[in-house]
Amino acid sequence: MGFNIAIDGPAGAGKSTIARAVAKELSFIYVDTGAMYRAVALYLMELGITAEQKDQISEKCQDAHVSIRYVDGEQQVWLNDRDVSSQIRKEEVGNMASVVSAVPAVRQHLFQLQRSLAAENNVVMDGRDIGTTILPDAQVKIFLTASVETRGKRRALELEAKGEKHSIEEICQDIRDRDHRDMTREISPLRQAEDGVLVDSSDMTISQVVQRILDIYREKAED
Ligand code: DC
Repeated sequence: MGFNIAIDGPAGAGKSTIARAVAKELSFIYVDTGAMYRAVALYLMELGITAEQKDQISEKCQDAHVSIRYVDGEQQVWLNDRDVSSQIRKEEVGNMASVVSAVPAVRQHLFQLQRSLAAENNVVMDGRDIGTTILPDAQVKIFLTASVETRGKRRALELEAKGEKHSIEEICQDIRDRDHRDMTREISPLRQAEDGVLVDSSDMTISQVVQRILDIYREKAED
Protein backbone atom coordinates (compact mmCIF):
# COMPACT_ATOMS: atom_id res chain seq x y z
CA MET A 1 0.00 0.00 0.00
CA GLY A 2 1.17 3.51 -0.75
CA PHE A 3 0.97 6.32 1.78
CA ASN A 4 -2.71 7.28 1.74
CA ILE A 5 -4.22 10.61 2.72
CA ALA A 6 -8.03 10.59 2.74
CA ILE A 7 -9.90 13.89 2.59
CA ASP A 8 -13.66 13.71 3.02
CA GLY A 9 -16.21 16.44 3.41
CA PRO A 10 -19.33 18.06 1.99
CA ALA A 11 -19.70 19.76 -1.39
CA GLY A 12 -17.88 23.07 -1.69
CA ALA A 13 -15.61 22.69 1.35
CA GLY A 14 -12.60 23.20 -0.91
CA LYS A 15 -11.57 19.55 -0.94
CA SER A 16 -10.31 19.39 -4.49
CA THR A 17 -8.29 22.63 -4.32
CA ILE A 18 -6.74 21.60 -1.01
CA ALA A 19 -6.18 17.96 -1.97
CA ARG A 20 -4.53 18.95 -5.24
CA ALA A 21 -2.20 21.39 -3.44
CA VAL A 22 -1.27 18.83 -0.75
CA ALA A 23 -0.57 16.21 -3.42
CA LYS A 24 1.64 18.65 -5.31
CA GLU A 25 3.64 19.52 -2.18
CA LEU A 26 4.26 15.85 -1.42
CA SER A 27 4.58 14.64 -5.03
CA PHE A 28 1.65 12.29 -4.42
CA ILE A 29 -1.07 11.50 -6.96
CA TYR A 30 -4.32 13.39 -6.50
CA VAL A 31 -7.44 11.26 -6.95
CA ASP A 32 -10.77 13.09 -7.19
CA THR A 33 -13.41 10.40 -6.61
CA GLY A 34 -16.30 12.85 -7.05
CA ALA A 35 -15.18 13.17 -10.67
CA MET A 36 -15.70 9.42 -11.11
CA TYR A 37 -19.29 9.63 -9.84
CA ARG A 38 -19.81 12.61 -12.10
CA ALA A 39 -18.57 10.64 -15.11
CA VAL A 40 -21.04 7.84 -14.37
CA ALA A 41 -23.79 10.44 -13.93
CA LEU A 42 -22.93 12.03 -17.27
CA TYR A 43 -23.06 8.66 -18.98
CA LEU A 44 -26.53 7.95 -17.58
CA MET A 45 -27.81 11.45 -18.41
CA GLU A 46 -26.67 11.02 -22.01
CA LEU A 47 -28.73 7.83 -22.16
CA GLY A 48 -31.74 9.85 -21.01
CA ILE A 49 -31.95 8.02 -17.69
CA THR A 50 -33.50 10.10 -14.90
CA ALA A 51 -32.94 10.22 -11.13
CA GLU A 52 -36.07 8.15 -10.49
CA GLN A 53 -35.02 5.19 -12.65
CA LYS A 54 -32.99 3.34 -10.02
CA ASP A 55 -33.10 -0.04 -11.78
CA GLN A 56 -31.83 1.49 -15.00
CA ILE A 57 -29.09 3.30 -13.08
CA SER A 58 -27.95 0.03 -11.48
CA GLU A 59 -27.94 -1.79 -14.80
CA LYS A 60 -26.49 0.79 -17.15
CA CYS A 61 -23.75 2.07 -14.84
CA GLN A 62 -21.92 -1.19 -15.57
CA ASP A 63 -21.25 0.08 -19.11
CA ALA A 64 -19.65 3.31 -17.95
CA HIS A 65 -15.93 2.60 -18.10
CA VAL A 66 -14.29 5.34 -16.10
CA SER A 67 -10.55 5.79 -16.03
CA ILE A 68 -8.17 8.35 -14.69
CA ARG A 69 -5.19 9.58 -16.66
CA TYR A 70 -2.49 12.00 -15.61
CA VAL A 71 -1.18 14.55 -18.07
CA ASP A 72 1.51 16.90 -16.72
CA GLY A 73 0.39 16.00 -13.20
CA GLU A 74 -3.22 16.96 -13.93
CA GLN A 75 -5.99 14.42 -13.52
CA GLN A 76 -8.14 13.78 -16.57
CA VAL A 77 -11.33 11.78 -16.34
CA TRP A 78 -12.13 9.52 -19.25
CA LEU A 79 -15.47 7.93 -19.95
CA ASN A 80 -15.51 5.11 -22.49
CA ASP A 81 -12.44 6.52 -24.22
CA ARG A 82 -13.31 10.19 -24.28
CA ASP A 83 -12.03 12.96 -22.07
CA VAL A 84 -14.99 14.32 -20.09
CA SER A 85 -12.96 16.37 -17.58
CA SER A 86 -14.72 19.67 -18.28
CA GLN A 87 -18.20 18.35 -19.12
CA ILE A 88 -18.56 16.70 -15.72
CA ARG A 89 -18.17 20.06 -13.93
CA LYS A 90 -21.68 21.28 -14.82
CA GLU A 91 -24.09 21.81 -11.90
CA GLU A 92 -26.68 19.39 -13.29
CA VAL A 93 -24.05 16.66 -13.59
CA GLY A 94 -23.06 17.27 -9.93
CA ASN A 95 -26.68 16.95 -8.84
CA MET A 96 -27.16 13.73 -10.81
CA ALA A 97 -23.85 12.43 -9.34
CA SER A 98 -25.25 12.96 -5.86
CA VAL A 99 -28.33 10.91 -6.83
CA VAL A 100 -26.52 8.06 -8.57
CA SER A 101 -23.88 7.80 -5.85
CA ALA A 102 -26.62 6.62 -3.46
CA VAL A 103 -27.21 3.57 -5.66
CA PRO A 104 -25.20 0.59 -4.32
CA ALA A 105 -24.34 -0.79 -7.78
CA VAL A 106 -22.72 2.52 -8.74
CA ARG A 107 -20.57 2.59 -5.58
CA GLN A 108 -19.58 -1.02 -6.12
CA HIS A 109 -18.68 -0.25 -9.72
CA LEU A 110 -16.16 2.45 -8.69
CA PHE A 111 -14.85 0.81 -5.50
CA GLN A 112 -12.14 -1.30 -7.16
CA LEU A 113 -10.79 1.54 -9.27
CA GLN A 114 -10.39 3.73 -6.18
CA ARG A 115 -8.84 0.95 -4.10
CA SER A 116 -6.31 -0.04 -6.71
CA LEU A 117 -5.13 3.53 -7.31
CA ALA A 118 -4.43 3.84 -3.56
CA ALA A 119 -2.75 0.43 -3.36
CA GLU A 120 -0.33 1.22 -6.16
CA ASN A 121 0.48 4.87 -5.44
CA ASN A 122 0.99 7.44 -2.72
CA VAL A 123 -2.30 9.28 -2.99
CA VAL A 124 -4.31 12.16 -1.71
CA MET A 125 -7.84 10.94 -2.37
CA ASP A 126 -10.88 13.12 -1.81
CA GLY A 127 -14.53 12.18 -1.60
CA ARG A 128 -17.26 11.38 0.91
CA ASP A 129 -16.43 7.90 2.22
CA ILE A 130 -12.70 7.57 1.64
CA GLY A 131 -11.64 7.46 5.30
CA THR A 132 -14.64 5.41 6.39
CA THR A 133 -15.12 2.85 3.60
CA ILE A 134 -12.68 2.98 0.70
CA LEU A 135 -9.41 3.39 2.60
CA PRO A 136 -10.16 2.57 6.24
CA ASP A 137 -6.41 2.05 6.78
CA ALA A 138 -5.35 5.42 5.38
CA GLN A 139 -2.52 6.85 7.48
CA VAL A 140 -4.05 10.35 7.45
CA LYS A 141 -7.79 11.08 7.46
CA ILE A 142 -9.13 14.60 7.25
CA PHE A 143 -12.76 15.71 7.47
CA LEU A 144 -12.79 19.08 5.73
CA THR A 145 -15.85 21.25 6.16
CA ALA A 146 -17.03 24.88 6.12
CA SER A 147 -20.30 26.68 6.78
CA VAL A 148 -23.04 26.54 4.12
CA GLU A 149 -22.71 30.31 3.56
CA THR A 150 -18.95 30.11 3.01
CA ARG A 151 -19.33 27.19 0.67
CA GLY A 152 -22.13 28.92 -1.22
CA LYS A 153 -20.03 32.03 -1.81
CA ARG A 154 -17.09 29.98 -3.00
CA ARG A 155 -19.28 27.95 -5.35
CA ALA A 156 -20.84 31.12 -6.79
CA LEU A 157 -17.38 32.48 -7.63
CA GLU A 158 -16.34 29.20 -9.24
CA LEU A 159 -19.49 29.09 -11.37
CA GLU A 160 -19.16 32.74 -12.33
CA ALA A 161 -15.63 32.08 -13.56
CA LYS A 162 -17.12 29.44 -15.85
CA GLY A 163 -19.80 31.84 -17.07
CA GLU A 164 -22.66 30.17 -15.18
CA LYS A 165 -24.87 32.59 -13.25
CA HIS A 166 -26.88 31.40 -10.24
CA SER A 167 -28.16 33.33 -7.21
CA ILE A 168 -26.48 32.75 -3.83
CA GLU A 169 -29.82 31.55 -2.40
CA GLU A 170 -30.19 28.97 -5.15
CA ILE A 171 -26.61 27.73 -4.65
CA CYS A 172 -26.96 27.52 -0.84
CA GLN A 173 -30.19 25.58 -1.20
CA ASP A 174 -28.50 23.22 -3.63
CA ILE A 175 -25.69 22.70 -1.14
CA ARG A 176 -28.14 21.98 1.70
CA ASP A 177 -30.04 19.49 -0.48
CA ARG A 178 -26.86 17.77 -1.55
CA ASP A 179 -25.50 17.62 2.03
CA HIS A 180 -28.76 16.09 3.15
CA ARG A 181 -28.71 13.44 0.41
CA ASP A 182 -25.02 12.63 0.95
CA MET A 183 -25.34 12.39 4.75
CA THR A 184 -28.59 10.47 5.01
CA ARG A 185 -28.20 7.86 2.30
CA GLU A 186 -28.11 4.27 3.49
CA ILE A 187 -24.88 3.25 1.86
CA SER A 188 -21.59 4.96 2.79
CA PRO A 189 -23.12 8.21 4.06
CA LEU A 190 -20.85 11.22 4.43
CA ARG A 191 -19.49 11.31 7.97
CA GLN A 192 -16.24 11.92 9.77
CA ALA A 193 -14.15 8.77 10.37
CA GLU A 194 -13.68 8.02 14.07
CA ASP A 195 -9.93 8.50 13.68
CA GLY A 196 -10.34 11.47 11.31
CA VAL A 197 -9.22 15.02 12.07
CA LEU A 198 -11.85 17.76 11.67
CA VAL A 199 -10.68 20.85 9.79
CA ASP A 200 -13.19 23.70 9.45
CA SER A 201 -11.98 25.96 6.65
CA SER A 202 -14.63 28.70 7.06
CA ASP A 203 -12.14 31.20 8.46
CA MET A 204 -8.96 29.80 6.98
CA THR A 205 -7.14 30.61 3.76
CA ILE A 206 -6.32 27.84 1.31
CA SER A 207 -2.65 27.91 2.26
CA GLN A 208 -3.48 27.71 5.99
CA VAL A 209 -5.56 24.59 5.38
CA VAL A 210 -2.83 23.07 3.21
CA GLN A 211 -0.22 23.77 5.92
CA ARG A 212 -2.43 22.24 8.59
CA ILE A 213 -2.80 19.03 6.59
CA LEU A 214 0.93 18.92 5.81
CA ASP A 215 1.62 19.26 9.57
CA ILE A 216 -0.72 16.34 10.29
CA TYR A 217 0.98 14.33 7.55
CA ARG A 218 4.47 15.03 8.95
CA GLU A 219 3.43 13.95 12.42
CA LYS A 220 2.14 10.64 11.05
CA ALA A 221 5.02 10.11 8.64
CA GLU A 222 7.51 10.46 11.51
CA ASP A 223 5.76 7.77 13.60
O1 DC B 1 -17.27 16.17 -4.81
P1 DC B 1 -18.21 16.26 -5.97
O2 DC B 1 -19.17 17.41 -5.85
O3 DC B 1 -17.51 16.25 -7.29
O4 DC B 1 -19.08 14.92 -5.90
C1 DC B 1 -20.25 14.73 -6.67
C2 DC B 1 -21.19 13.77 -5.93
O5 DC B 1 -20.62 12.46 -5.90
C3 DC B 1 -21.49 14.14 -4.48
O6 DC B 1 -22.72 14.79 -4.34
C4 DC B 1 -21.53 12.84 -3.74
C5 DC B 1 -20.89 11.85 -4.66
N1 DC B 1 -19.65 11.28 -4.11
C6 DC B 1 -19.76 10.18 -3.30
O7 DC B 1 -20.87 9.74 -3.00
N2 DC B 1 -18.65 9.55 -2.83
C7 DC B 1 -17.44 10.03 -3.13
N3 DC B 1 -16.36 9.39 -2.67
C8 DC B 1 -17.30 11.18 -3.93
C9 DC B 1 -18.44 11.81 -4.41
